[in-house]
Amino acid sequence: MTDEIKTIHASFKKNIAVAATPDDAERIRVQYLGRKGALATIFDALKNLAPEERKRAGEEANALRREIEERLAEKRATLEQTSHEGILKKGWLDVTRPGARLPKGHLHPVTQVLREIEEIFASIGFNIAEGPEIETDFYNFQALNMPPGHPARDMWDTFWLNQPAKDGLIARTDLQNKSVLWPHRDNKFLLRTHTSPVQVRYMETHEPPIRIIAPGIVYRYEATDASHEIQFHQVEGLMVDKNISVANFKAVMREFSSRLFGKKVSLRLRPSYFPFTEPSFEADISCVVCDQKGCSLCKQSGWLELFGAGMVHPAVFKAAGWNPAGIQGFAFGIGFARLVAMKYKIPDVRLLNGGDLRFLHQF
Ligand code: PHE
Repeated sequence: MTDEIKTIHASFKKNIAVAATPDDAERIRVQYLGRKGALATIFDALKNLAPEERKRAGEEANALRREIEERLAEKRATLEQTSHEGILKKGWLDVTRPGARLPKGHLHPVTQVLREIEEIFASIGFNIAEGPEIETDFYNFQALNMPPGHPARDMWDTFWLNQPAKDGLIARTDLQNKSVLWPHRDNKFLLRTHTSPVQVRYMETHEPPIRIIAPGIVYRYEATDASHEIQFHQVEGLMVDKNISVANFKAVMREFSSRLFGKKVSLRLRPSYFPFTEPSFEADISCVVCDQKGCSLCKQSGWLELFGAGMVHPAVFKAAGWNPAGIQGFAFGIGFARLVAMKYKIPDVRLLNGGDLRFLHQF
C-alpha cells in the first residue's frame, strides 16, 4: 500500500509542476481527488486490509490528500494571477494602463565631455587618432627626446611591466572594437604615462600636414588624492605643417575653450618645460566660473591651468622618421579630469571614477 501512495505522490508532484493554466489545475484535481481519482482507489482498497495496516495506510492516504489539496489551492491561486487564461477569465487586465517605466541610463560625464571635445576639434578639421595603453620605453620616452637615464623621466611616475609582447606586436582592441596590432620597437614595457606617444605613432604612418587629437587613458604610479588618480584621461593634440607658430596654437585653443565652456575665454601662456617641445608652456584660460573676479576654483588668480603644450621638438620629428627641416608643429595635452571638474565644478576627481550613481545621475 505504502508504495502505491508514494507512486501517486510522485506523479502528482510531476504533474503539478508543469501545470500552466487554471484548467490544468482542475484536470489534476479530478485526476487525484475526483470520485474516480487516484486517491479514491486507495481509500477503496483500504477496506480489504488488516486493521493494523488499514490504520497506517489510512493515515498516509489522508496526509497525501491534505498535501494535494493545499498545493492545488496554491497553484490555482498563482495561475489565476499570472497565466494568460487566468487573467482573461478574471477580466481585470487594463490594457490601457501605462507600462512600468524602465530606468533610463545616460552617458558618463567623462564620456559626455570627451564627445564634446571630439566634436569641437572635428569641426575645425582635426582627426581622431589612438594608440595602445601598453606602451614601450621607446614611444613613451625615447622618441619624445628622453633617452634612458634622462632626468625628465621623473616627471612621469611609471608603472613598468615585465610581460613581453607577443610576436613583436602589442595587441588590443580599438574604439571600433577591432583587434589592432601595434609595433613596439623595444622590449621595455610600461603603461603609457601620457598620450604623447600617439604623436610619434601617428607621424610614423602619416605625412604632414597633420591635425589630430588623441584621447585616451593614461597611468601614473602615485598616491591618489582629490586631484590625482593612477588612471585618468588625457587628450593629446598635434598640428604639423609648413608654417605653424605659437599664434596658431593660441587661436586653436582659444576657439576650443570658448566653444567648450560656452563663453569667450582668453588664453595665457607661461613658460614651462617638456623634453619633446621647444619652447614649452603651460596654457591657462581665464576663469570660467568667476570671469576673473576671483573665486575658489581659480584660487583668486582669475586663471585656470588647463594645457601642457609647446612647439614640437625637431628630435621628435626625427624619431618618427621625418626630416625636420621646414616643418613646425604644436602639441598639447589636456588634463581631462581637470577640465571636467571645471565644467561641472566637481571638487574631487575621484568622484568621476567612483561609480556612485547618486553622483553620476546629476549629469
Ligand atoms: N604629455 C604631457 C604630460 O603628460 C603634456 C604635453 C603634451 C606637453 C604635449 C606638451 C605637449 O604632462
